Amino acid sequence: MYRTHTCGELRIQNVGEKVTLAGWVQRVRNMGGMTFIDLRDRYGITQLGFNMEVDAQICEKARKLGREFVIQIAGEVIERESKNSQMDTGEIELKVSTLEVLNASAVPPFTVDDETDGGEEIRMKYRYIDLRRNPLRKNLELRHKLAIETRKYMDALHFMEIETPYLIKSTPEGARDFVVPSRMNEGQFYALPQSPQTFKQLLMISGYDRYFQIVRCFRDEDLRADRQPEFTQIDCEMAFVEQEDILQTFEGLVRHLFKSVKGIELPEFVRMTYAEAMSKYGSDKPDLRFGMAFNELNAIAQNQGFQVFDDAELVLGICAQGAGEYSRKQLDALTDFVKRPQIGAQGLIYCKVNEDGTFKSSVDKFFSQDQLAHWANATNAKPGDLILVLAGKANKVRKQMNELRLEMGSQLGLRTSSDYRPMWVVDFPLLEWDEETQRFYAMHHPFTAPKPEHIDLLSSDPKSVNANAYDLVINGVELGGGSIRIHDRDLQAKMFEILGFSDEEAEDQFGFLMGAFKYGAPPHGGIAFGFDRLAAMFGGTDSIRDYIAFPKNNAGRDLMIDSPSKISNEQLDELNLKVIIE
Ligand code: AMO
Repeated sequence: MYRTHTCGELRIQNVGEKVTLAGWVQRVRNMGGMTFIDLRDRYGITQLGFNMEVDAQICEKARKLGREFVIQIAGEVIERESKNSQMDTGEIELKVSTLEVLNASAVPPFTVDDETDGGEEIRMKYRYIDLRRNPLRKNLELRHKLAIETRKYMDALHFMEIETPYLIKSTPEGARDFVVPSRMNEGQFYALPQSPQTFKQLLMISGYDRYFQIVRCFRDEDLRADRQPEFTQIDCEMAFVEQEDILQTFEGLVRHLFKSVKGIELPEFVRMTYAEAMSKYGSDKPDLRFGMAFNELNAIAQNQGFQVFDDAELVLGICAQGAGEYSRKQLDALTDFVKRPQIGAQGLIYCKVNEDGTFKSSVDKFFSQDQLAHWANATNAKPGDLILVLAGKANKVRKQMNELRLEMGSQLGLRTSSDYRPMWVVDFPLLEWDEETQRFYAMHHPFTAPKPEHIDLLSSDPKSVNANAYDLVINGVELGGGSIRIHDRDLQAKMFEILGFSDEEAEDQFGFLMGAFKYGAPPHGGIAFGFDRLAAMFGGTDSIRDYIAFPKNNAGRDLMIDSPSKISNEQLDELNLKVIIE
């Protein structure tokens, strides 16, 4: 037996026991005649003691050990003289009688400590060492718990976990596909799934009326903190349901996860239409941990001789409570913030409500105290508050104000990570018009059903059609999204037509689905959650990379295995791909 206990297990009750442990050398300390080693495994750290006077030979051996050596020791559990209340095993140590080096280690490129001295890149390259550190281990444990609790909840509700293939045909979720050349079918390619969307719909047609899968998805898109080229979904589908059934079922899942994994009872799941979210918060994923909703000021701010407002399609104001004390420097910094190219505002107008009820604005030349009082009224600003105003093209102003609102929320400490505000955003538009390509795109995906009462508008006024689609948003993070699907062949054909597919293209790409619709497709709908995002939210960050064992960097590279990489000419040849590399 390699070990009788783990390194996180022994306590004062074990004193006197003879045990065997195996693990990694965290550190070696020599103190006079004594040598102490911290022995680590994934469960914790146990202190080993070696006494030169008692056994010089083994003590010498211990002194030669380096960091990250793998050793096995046997010894007796004894009570520690100086106890460490910070450690679970801090009351005991081992009096070592035998020590065997199972494997030596080169000096690791960074310290395996909670706070390491290794930079991001080096830690990615040596991910297998980085994963030894507590913060990452805890993240993966959290992820594991979430997966287990998801399976428990889904199983209890009779959902079946069914695997779907990875080598498939393109599924249009809006990103580019990763493709895989087929050796046996010259000139042809598989695509890796952006999601199992069409397969789960086919499973509904097959009668598996409750399906789920914790499944890898692949999307070739620009990467950010909350996006990886391969990521994991909790993918779900149900037959014989309406939107309400889905929202209830999955509110249940999310509640269960928060309760069982974090011990948190979530507050009410707010429901908000897409239109309301956009007009109040300028975002389809508003952070509801704080208010600061938008106020339209057109009626009171325009036609007062201030050109910027007069020329604007929309004048929006928000009230930042308690920010009336902001200094000139802070206000300048906010102006710089909104003028950054990523945000793109022309400028920022502010109005402070002084403690005595008077106003101090950046446009005092144009607006009287009485007029500014109207601003305060419209934004519900009180003495000590700061009104921030942006003006311009409606869509742009909303986006810019969304960024400014989030920034103010952060600056005022209103976005605390332990506060969770879940919401369903509902009634998304079915279609999005793209100016560049002059065509409609499905806002969710092409299989999403229009609201039944809007079906008639599909031909006459497609822009105004809403979908039976919904997103789950918590604290400004889109954690999941789904829809009721089209299950009628003619309606699906109509949808492809609106999206600019010719009959041949629709047949070529989705003939299998259209065919299946001929053979008894039940009404169905579903949802998918971003599992990595869920884990990151539970962990209190928005970087999903730390919750994935072997992630890619922002350039889509795995620095550890150095991928993507070239392949040999023989391999290219075998795949019937042109030999292009010399
Ligand atoms: P959607 O495209 O909205 O829907 O994806 C569902 C959820 O997956 C997460 N997500 C990602 N997470 C990490 N990295 C990415 N690149 C990434 N892309 C998406 C998000 C998102 O809410 N088939 C539909 C679902 C359905 O209709 O049932 C789908 O995939 O949290």
